[in-house]
Amino acid sequence: MNSDELADARPTAGALAADLLLEEAASLLSGADFASTKALPERGIRAVMMTDGSNGVAMNLPDWSGKVPATCFPTSSAMASTWDPELVERVAGAIADEARAAGADVLLSPGMNLKRSPLGGRNFEYFSEDPLLTARLAAAFVRGVQAAGVGACVKHFVANNQETDRMRVSAEVSERALRELYLAAFEAVVTEAKPWLVMASYNRVNGSYVSEDRRLLTGILRDEWGFDGVVVSDWGAVEDRVRAVSAGLDLEMPSTSGASDAQVVEAVRAGVLDESVVRRSAERVIALGERVSARVDARPVDRERAAALAVEAARKAAVLVRNEHETLPLGGAARVGVIGALADEPRIQGAGSAGVNAPAAGSIVEALRPLVGAVDHAPGYLPDAVTTSDELLAEAVRVAAASDVAVVVVGLPETAESEGYDRTTIDLPEAQVRLISRVALAAPRTVVVVIAGGVVSLEPWRPSVDAILLAGLAGQGVSTALADLLVGAAAPSGRLAETMPLALADTPSYLSFPGEGGRSVYGEGVFVGYRGHDVAGSPVAYPFGHGLTYTTFEFEDAMVTPDGSGWVATATVRNTGERAGRAVVQVYVSPPASPVRRPVHKLAAFAAVELEPGATGSVSVRVDRRSVERWDEVGGGWVVDGGAHGFDFAASSRDIRRTVLVEIAGTEVAAPLTRHSTLVEWLDHPVAGVLLLDELRTADPTGATIGMLTNPTAVLMIGGLPIHRLAVDAGNALSEELLERVRSATVGSSDRPGTASTRPTS
Ligand code: BGC
Repeated sequence: MNSDELADARPTAGALAADLLLEEAASLLSGADFASTKALPERGIRAVMMTDGSNGVAMNLPDWSGKVPATCFPTSSAMASTWDPELVERVAGAIADEARAAGADVLLSPGMNLKRSPLGGRNFEYFSEDPLLTARLAAAFVRGVQAAGVGACVKHFVANNQETDRMRVSAEVSERALRELYLAAFEAVVTEAKPWLVMASYNRVNGSYVSEDRRLLTGILRDEWGFDGVVVSDWGAVEDRVRAVSAGLDLEMPSTSGASDAQVVEAVRAGVLDESVVRRSAERVIALGERVSARVDARPVDRERAAALAVEAARKAAVLVRNEHETLPLGGAARVGVIGALADEPRIQGAGSAGVNAPAAGSIVEALRPLVGAVDHAPGYLPDAVTTSDELLAEAVRVAAASDVAVVVVGLPETAESEGYDRTTIDLPEAQVRLISRVALAAPRTVVVVIAGGVVSLEPWRPSVDAILLAGLAGQGVSTALADLLVGAAAPSGRLAETMPLALADTPSYLSFPGEGGRSVYGEGVFVGYRGHDVAGSPVAYPFGHGLTYTTFEFEDAMVTPDGSGWVATATVRNTGERAGRAVVQVYVSPPASPVRRPVHKLAAFAAVELEPGATGSVSVRVDRRSVERWDEVGGGWVVDGGAHGFDFAASSRDIRRTVLVEIAGTEVAAPLTRHSTLVEWLDHPVAGVLLLDELRTADPTGATIGMLTNPTAVLMIGGLPIHRLAVDAGNALSEELLERVRSATVGSSDRPGTASTRPTS
């Protein structure tokens, strides 16, 4: 037999699972140790080994004395600023290659929770405040990992948007916000990129633990989206194993030393858990083992290539948000005063399970030295990033005054960004704010480089400096990358994946994050990030999608054409400056008038184009129908508000260059009528409204009943009454029987073409 025949001869995962003793099947549903599933060698079932690694392999050494050395790429927050799925895919592939070489079968990444608040402690591990950008990048990550034969595990499903009380807090969130934001990102990745695993988060959603939520884990994930992989718990996220198994949580991690397996067996024997559910989960765990066994030939790990890719990614991740007087790029002869202890030893990643045992990033000072006229350096603050002194400040001012340009490197301290706790402020340490202000007064020109994974306030010093470059947490390539960008050997091309607010209090979730009393009420609903800022029209420091480069672009010839169920949006971009650069065309869709409050617009697609000076290039993106839909809470489904939708071609959520209006037919939403529906709801119903008037005409030929119930002034006063309360009024012919007749005649005919309201208008 050749290997294909051998594989064909092997029993399927289903057959293997069906043959197991109940105890064996149950044993597959929890870990063997911290990172592996159990093997049943006598049954031909292998173990699957998992490792963390969002920005590089984060595998613990067997004795827990540290982690395996690995290439450290920019964190997901920084990768998101690239708006470059192809780059994310390459980086993910490189991480997966290293994971495989270290013996892992599954990478517990990507993290794809939305940034509901800038304070989220793990925001550096996540992509964006926007579900579409998150989904496109996370899908690319999954593709990159799985093309290397390693399983990707999207996490943390779902509404795990804070670290405070993360292991039991209840995210109290509307169905609409879940569908349009929090679930939407996962939905797109699960349906498009087909990850082999989904990790159920620690938290509860609307009171029930995700790990025990059948609607989420089975109803939505599997039945609606067709997920066919393994649902694994976050580590220690299972409160009640039996409830979790029946909800659809296949694999509990880490090991419980067999305790929860015994509970599963006992529950089956006691008749409270269906044995077929246990075997089905065992089958999925076995199938995961087969998937990782069938993987493509291991690609050799090339550390040098990976290091070069880490530099490329760091370069593309930086976002230039301000550049007055063409301060950047620095001239080749410039005398540069580099200020800040973070320039000696830049922070390159966040802390927690994703932390990588990375090589040193080297110093920004040294990386810059060969590229400019002269470099002087002053630390300005201590390596803790929070302490300064009069001496340190005075030395920094001296260096700044003697330079042509001061480059102040600031950022959050090591302890500010970690799994396990949220931030409490977006402010930079006070010592750094003082330093920037003093330097800006002394230096002829001041550039500020910010090293942080999450959003930081750029106030109050923002207007007093000439340029601001946000480096993110850029991984081991940060110093080389920043030096290249500062001198123009590379042009900045990142765009903000998160709004930079003027103040924390301006952020839509401010009043309800992180909640209290075990509940986090998502009071801002669907208005997260720019969706909230833009609907309020409040000023921001820099909007979502913003990012400068060393040239400028114009957008021309915007066009939208129908394409199947969606549209294709095309535009021409012209490089109107003197340097090459990368434009990121963002297409937002704005809805027509709607019965519900909607964001002004939302990101629907994006594409980038690299252009030489004077050159033009065209971009073409697909906009899916989902982008023009909203979740209808009443009917429980996706609907379109009919009318002219604006397709905005933009350089940021607040820099719209062209708009194309597209007329789109709406969904007839006819809420099912009951005796508790109001008079207005009955009259406005496209079918029942007409029938009701017909019936009333017959019941009361005098016209008095119709006259009263449709009189515009009367309707203003009593239109909100549940209609059955009018049926007891002796003065009209409305009766419960009549209503029931109309209601049953309406059922099944609600898809008839809608008519205008039956109410006369005054
Ligand atoms: C984290 C996960 C991680 C897991 C395994 C948990 O505490 O929330 O993101 O994959 O640990 O290390």
